[in-house]
Amino acid sequence: MISKGETLYMSNCASCHGSQLEGKKNWTSGKDEDGQSLPPPLNGEGHSWHHSPDQLFQIIRYGFKIYNPNYQGKMQGNETLSDEDIWSILEYMKSVWPKKIRDQYKSLVKH
Ligand code: HEC
Repeated sequence: MISKGETLYMSNCASCHGSQLEGKKNWTSGKDEDGQSLPPPLNGEGHSWHHSPDQLFQIIRYGFKIYNPNYQGKMQGNETLSDEDIWSILEYMKSVWPKKIRDQYKSLVKH
């Protein structure tokens, strides 16, 4: 599942979030040439792990429109990915998080 997620990540997400899931420099305050927010890291340094698995799923499926119907930024939905595709991408993301973050996440979402 993780390696499938990695393949899907590389073709669908890496162009923005980076092949190491490192995001863009200055993602917290910087803007791209269109004045939109920069892609945050997904490697545990960002705040992805503050979102529940369901929220992360929704973000990937529907984009940031779930937070703001007028969202104009770059994080758009991925209607062509299957549910399983999205869960495997999330497994891949979590697999690169440092152990400390993974443990915190586990206690947060209570498996
Ligand atoms: C065209 C560029 C682009 C692509 C492609 C893209 N993203 Fe994003 N993503 C962003 C941006 C920009 C943000 C920050 C949203 C904002 O603040 O406007 C973001 C935010 C996120 C977040 C929320 C992060 C957090 O810490 O709150 C997740 C999770 C995410 N993206 C996952 C993905 C996944 C998984 C894919 C591939 C299926 C993907 N993104 C594809 C640009 C992109």
